[in-house]
Parts: sequence; structure tokens; C-alpha cells
Amino acid sequence: MAASNRASITRTCRILVTGAGGFIGSHVTELLLQEGHRVRALARYNGRGDIGHLRHIPENLSPSLEVRLGDITDPFLMRDLVADCDIVLHLAALIGIPYSYIAPGSYLATNAGGTLNLLEACREAKTARVVVTSTSEVYGTALYTRSTRSIRYRGSRPTRQAKLPPTSLRRLTIAALICR
Ligand SMILES: NC(=O)c1ccc[n+]([C@@H]2O[C@H](COP(=O)([O-])OP(=O)(O)OC[C@H]3O[C@@H](n4cnc5c(N)ncnc54)[C@H](O)[C@@H]3O)[C@@H](O)[C@H]2O)c1
Repeated sequence: MAASNRASITRTCRILVTGAGGFIGSHVTELLLQEGHRVRALARYNGRGDIGHLRHIPENLSPSLEVRLGDITDPFLMRDLVADCDIVLHLAALIGIPYSYIAPGSYLATNAGGTLNLLEACREAKTARVVVTSTSEVYGTALYTRSTRSIRYRGSRPTRQAKLPPTSLRRLTIAALICR
């Protein structure tokens, strides 16, 4: 992370982490809690109340952790979740490639539509910082040993195609947030 970005997170913040029940989101949540931040963690709703990998967060960190169950495809929930948050780290996504061939609509609704919901909510709330994760999958299979920014997007799989809009949305929204 660039030095200027680190400076903004060295003070104590309230941070929303989407996809917090997932592999990366749960580790990021734990790290942020260890650094003294307050984390609102969104895990995908299910009827069992299963919070995924968040169940491994050490008990002593839980006072600063607010776990919410929900779905990023719901724009109303997104408005509610971003309220009072200084920073949003967006990690919720459907990532499995085989299932993307079976249910491409779910991937578009979640990865593109869900990201749009979140970014719109952040724009309305004037959230100071938003970080949207994408994937190198949007560039397709590597043709060169060293990747550069000049490589074009090549979305041949549904997972790649559904990640292309969030990647471009991220650029637009970051520009909008910086200019506000
Ligand atoms: N793991 C990697 O090596 C890797 C590499 C590059 C990029 N990424 C990107 O990082 C992000 C997180 O990856 P991960 O490995 O932690 O994935 P993961 O599948 O472990 O976590 C994603 C989380 O998002 C949640 N989710 C899915 N749909 C949702 C919805 N509609 N509403 C709310 N939550 C929903 C899932 O339940 C899951 O807990 C993804 O965008 C992924 O493409 C991951």
C-alpha cells in the first residue's frame, strides 16, 4: 500500500468489510481488529446463521467486531451497511469458475450488480475510501511472463465477464470519490 494510503488508516476507523466470511475477508477483518479498528463485517446471509471463516476470529477481538448477515445484491442493505463507515473494503464475490458456467446470472448480479449497489451507497454516504477487489482472471490466461497495465481485458469465462464491470466501476468511483 502506498505511504499516503497507509497514513489514512493509521488512525482508528470504522471499516466495512464485505465478503468477511470468506478466505481473504476473514483474514483482513482479523488484521484490522488487531490494529485497533472497529469492523462491520458482512457475511452472506443463510438460514443457519453461519458466519463462515469469521468464526475463527479470536474472542478477545470480538468487542470491536459487528457481524452482519446479508446480501450485496440488496441496495437498501448496502446503504444501511456503509453508514458511519470511514472505509469500505469490498471482497464479497462469487469466485468459482465451474459454477459460473451453470449460473452466469448469479455472477453478474453479485459481482457487477452487487458492486454497483455498494459503490452507489458509498457515493451517497460520501465514504472517504473504497477498495474494490477484482481478479487477474479479467486478463485471461497469461500470454507473457510479466504482466503490465497495458494488457487488455479478455473476458472469456463468466467469472471474468462478471468481474469486468466492477473493475471499470472501481476506476470511475474512485475518481468520483476523490473529486467530491
Ligand atoms: N483468493 C485468491 O487467491 C484471490 C486472488 C485474486 C483475487 N481475489 C479476489 O478477492 C475477493 C475475495 O476472494 P476470496 O478468495 O476471499 O473468496 P471467498 O469465496 O473465500 O470469499 C468471498 C465471500 O463473498 C461472499 N459472497 C458471495 N456472494 C455474496 C453476496 N451476494 N452477498 C454477500 N456476500 C457474498 C461469499 O459468501 C464469501 O464468503 C474476490 O473478489 C476474488 O476474486 C482472490
